Amino acid sequence: MAGAGGEPVLVLGGGLMGLAVAHALARRGESVLVLSRRRSEAAGFVAAGMLAPHAEGLEGVMLELGRRSLERIPAWVADIEADAGLSCGRWRCGIVVPFASAAERDAYPTAGRGVPLDRAGLEREVAGIGPGWRAGVLFPQDGQIDNRRSLMRALEKACTALGVRFQEGSEVLGLDTATGRLDGVWTRTVQGQEQRIASRRAVLSGGAWSARLLPNLPVVPIKGQMLSLQGPREALRRVVFGPGTYLVPRRDGLLVVGATSEPEAGFSDGLTPQGQRQLQEGIEALLPAAVHWPPMERWWGFRPGTPDQAPLLGPSAIEGLWLATGHYRNGVLLAAITAELTSGLVTGAGTADRGLEELLRAFRWDRFEHWDPSAQTVASSIRRDPVAEGVG
Ligand code: GLY
Repeated sequence: MAGAGGEPVLVLGGGLMGLAVAHALARRGESVLVLSRRRSEAAGFVAAGMLAPHAEGLEGVMLELGRRSLERIPAWVADIEADAGLSCGRWRCGIVVPFASAAERDAYPTAGRGVPLDRAGLEREVAGIGPGWRAGVLFPQDGQIDNRRSLMRALEKACTALGVRFQEGSEVLGLDTATGRLDGVWTRTVQGQEQRIASRRAVLSGGAWSARLLPNLPVVPIKGQMLSLQGPREALRRVVFGPGTYLVPRRDGLLVVGATSEPEAGFSDGLTPQGQRQLQEGIEALLPAAVHWPPMERWWGFRPGTPDQAPLLGPSAIEGLWLATGHYRNGVLLAAITAELTSGLVTGAGTADRGLEELLRAFRWDRFEHWDPSAQTVASSIRRDPVAEGVG
């Protein structure tokens, strides 16, 4: 189903959220055009791919949204894999959160939703875990997707197979709202050509860059630095989610290590000695043997942060423009539910799950209606890593 005059739905941003929404729209029969400035910068390529509503200690409506998305992941992945003919690299490997004491463990917000571990249990689940950890929780229901090597490629191929079109290297300069609603967007190609693309329906999925198009949107970049090591295959069979550092083993032994959380860094490119030291110290504390594993890659990227660390979903203040951004630390987890919700809203089909529409209210942009961008409250509200603060 195409819009007025055969106009495509425009997806503004070709990262994980843009691809997931484009794919869901195409599955609902829409013609879709994805406008993307530079996909390689997308947080979807940078993240570790954890599916971790419980291990991340989410609470309240965020835990509810995360749990609902986790439930949808198997079917979402199956659809992508069927359309793409490629694996997404999903692994329900379980996540262990280690603590220095049983009291710390029992105070963790999601402790009651996992299996409590003592020191012997920790050693059983994570062979070679560092000596400083006396207790833990295993969340067998959490897991991971190999986002960098599999998911992003599979999603792009699934979109292409369903007829989604892409304009890579296209920067969206502005929204045409002259009639009081969305009528189109202005873009500039890498060759410097400016053009207007007409459409009365668009989804903003610009990740950390979303506020460049809507300056009142409370989304700021929260830089994260990461690295990877090549471990022996099966040396680690659970994700280990420590304070300030986590270890995500892929099935072939690659160990993805994340991540700093640097609200003050803005969009500053590059690795820093302090950030890399934090990760090295985290590896040593969590899994001492891994400090001897060969280094593979180091990289950084920008999470889209919001003042309450929750995404912006649903209609925007502009008629015809919907939001799918601000997913901060939980983009891979929340992509499935974001795609379902957003495609249901854009097409008018809604979702069969009425409770979900109710839950969506908690994530609408107007919870920040009185937010003052000049007060710079987003970055200062984002929790810094304990390790970066020298606490852990
Ligand atoms: N989800 C983990 C992170 O953003 O570092």
